[in-house]
Amino acid sequence: MKRLFLFAISSLLLVLPVKADEGMWLPALMSQRIADMQAKGFKLSAEDVYSINQASLKDAVVLFGGGCTGEVVSDEGLLFTNHHCGYSYIQRHSSVEHDYLKDGFWAMSRDEELPNRGLTVSFLDRMEDVTNAVLKGYSPSMTEEERQQLVRDNSAALIKEATADGKGLRASVEALFYGNQYYLFVYRVFRDVRLVGAPPSSIGKFGGDTDNWMWPRHTGDFSIFRIYADKDNNPADYSEDNVPYRPKKSFTISRAGVKNGDFTFVYGCPGSTKEYVMSEEVKYVSEVSDPQKIDLRTKRLDIMKKYMDADQAVRIQYSSKYANVSNAWKKWQGEAKGIIKMKTVKAKKEYEERFRQWAKGTRYEGLIEKLDVLYAERFPSYLAYENYTETVRAIEILSLASSVVSALDNNPESVKSLAESFFKDYYQPIDEEIFTAMLEAFDKNMDDGMKPQYFKDMLKKYGSVDSWRKDLYSKTIFTDKNKVLALKAEDVENVVKDPAYELYDAFFSWYYDTLRPVINRTSTEINLVYRDYMQGQMDFEKDKVFYPDANLTLRVAYGHVDGYSPADGITYEPVSTLKGIIEKDNPEIFDYDIPQTLRDIYAEGGHEDQPVCFLATNHTSGGNSGSPVINADGNLIGINFDRVWEGTMSDYVFDPDFCRNISIDIRYLLFNIEYIGHAEYLFNEMKFAD
Ligand code: ARG
Ligand code: GLU
Repeated sequence: MKRLFLFAISSLLLVLPVKADEGMWLPALMSQRIADMQAKGFKLSAEDVYSINQASLKDAVVLFGGGCTGEVVSDEGLLFTNHHCGYSYIQRHSSVEHDYLKDGFWAMSRDEELPNRGLTVSFLDRMEDVTNAVLKGYSPSMTEEERQQLVRDNSAALIKEATADGKGLRASVEALFYGNQYYLFVYRVFRDVRLVGAPPSSIGKFGGDTDNWMWPRHTGDFSIFRIYADKDNNPADYSEDNVPYRPKKSFTISRAGVKNGDFTFVYGCPGSTKEYVMSEEVKYVSEVSDPQKIDLRTKRLDIMKKYMDADQAVRIQYSSKYANVSNAWKKWQGEAKGIIKMKTVKAKKEYEERFRQWAKGTRYEGLIEKLDVLYAERFPSYLAYENYTETVRAIEILSLASSVVSALDNNPESVKSLAESFFKDYYQPIDEEIFTAMLEAFDKNMDDGMKPQYFKDMLKKYGSVDSWRKDLYSKTIFTDKNKVLALKAEDVENVVKDPAYELYDAFFSWYYDTLRPVINRTSTEINLVYRDYMQGQMDFEKDKVFYPDANLTLRVAYGHVDGYSPADGITYEPVSTLKGIIEKDNPEIFDYDIPQTLRDIYAEGGHEDQPVCFLATNHTSGGNSGSPVINADGNLIGINFDRVWEGTMSDYVFDPDFCRNISIDIRYLLFNIEYIGHAEYLFNEMKFAD
């Protein structure tokens, strides 16, 4: 009996899921994860997820633009992603007369779909471990420079071979685990991608920056596009003759809904994580860099908000800029807090001490000490660099000045379009106030030895940043659209003497000559030590399964629907409904002012329980926006768009109690198509599982 009991326990242990849903796994290595996934409820096979021999789910997932994910949902190239991923394209089609950001956009037929210059989507054709080919010819006697050259040459040859058949192929060789492994990624890139539908921002961005990174969430963060191809189904530039792309695979949509504990699987392209860095870096991020950047951005956001609240035209101009600035600002707050709460620095220090003991007498001896020295060299310059990007680079006319000068040098024709797009969204009082606030902050944050001589000279000359600002803005041409439009190639000699350009240039040269060499050298050296330290960690913890840090390549993250407790006495349910939107609705508050039609539909009754968003435990990061969220049967149940801020430290350290990704329930997207867009015709091309 006892023996039987023990046997029961041990077999239970085998199938019992490990608690943590940490990890972003390479699809090509699905076979190593599939047993665990199936134990947790997944019903498909590794080949269904990723295969190079047959159509698999990977053929329905795309890298959308340069930093989001999207999924194909029909045999005619229909694509879902987030509203915030399509945002800048929707904005470019908008004006005060037809404001698609505000009112939404719905193509009622194919010929109303709007082309988007510069937008691409990339399908992963295949990925392949090419470590041996990349290191072919390597011998341990080589210097690091020789090794790098070899890696570059071999990679270039692999890329050339992989893209030989043309037709929109792009390939890259990516170092994983700091160069302990190399993978080749081959993509097919489509260049004609058209806007099909987007809800009004009051739905697609409902909750705005107030609710961003937070739960409970009620954002309808989706937009709809369509991929076009030439007659042979190959990538092509925009043309009226192009036809909807016929994908190898598209997602089937499940309307069955989600409940606590359901298996979830996010398939997408997380951008960047640093799970294996040592304590010094985590300490710098959580105790120095994040707090300082948060403070600088608070100042900037307060200034923008003041003017945006006062004037609707300014709000339109600055909405996208504001969202960009505030997004990381809020994320950093959760990141710093989470790292401190988890005592990650202490935990890493203890780990490093154990590693150090273990490493004695091995080829890993002395690595921690080396990293300590390199970090001490790096941080002062890096902090100065971060202060520079967050202050000087936040002043808008300086960026204009630099682009105009390089345009005059290289392509004078382009000055016109530069000026048009800059001044469309420029409001001088904001820029001036940011100038003063940011340069004063730079002055305060930096030690005297870490400031450019030019900066110190100007402060001496003017006595204060504010008098400097007055003089500069009264003399520069970069606040005057007509003056910029009138510039010709031969004016460049004068333009470089403009005070805005001078300021830009002085700081840039200082960065380039003083900071950059230190930053680059230490980066290279640190990465090199990490190559060994990474391998060392893998040898040190033989039983642990390691996943490579995110690098915008396709990954699988699996978990389950789950709420969390952000603080003592509070428990969050994992699903939100339309009822919650109505509770938040307030015409006085911009972020919560829903369209009247939504109020009317709700008032008719019957939609109280309409699901809106849900939480799950998938390990995601920036770049996973727009990723398909898939159920145990492989069907689409949602679109990932965010994490909760209490869990944003997951880029460094994953806490199963707090790390949650946020998705829009696919049924809310369908609800919007029907009730807000009246574009039900789109349902005809979708496939539904239930
Ligand atoms: N936090 C999400 C992400 O990192 C959404 C950002 C866009 N939304 C916003 N309110 N700013 O991309
Ligand atoms: N909103 C993020 C994105 O654009 C996803 C949120 C995150 O960082 O997890 O990719």
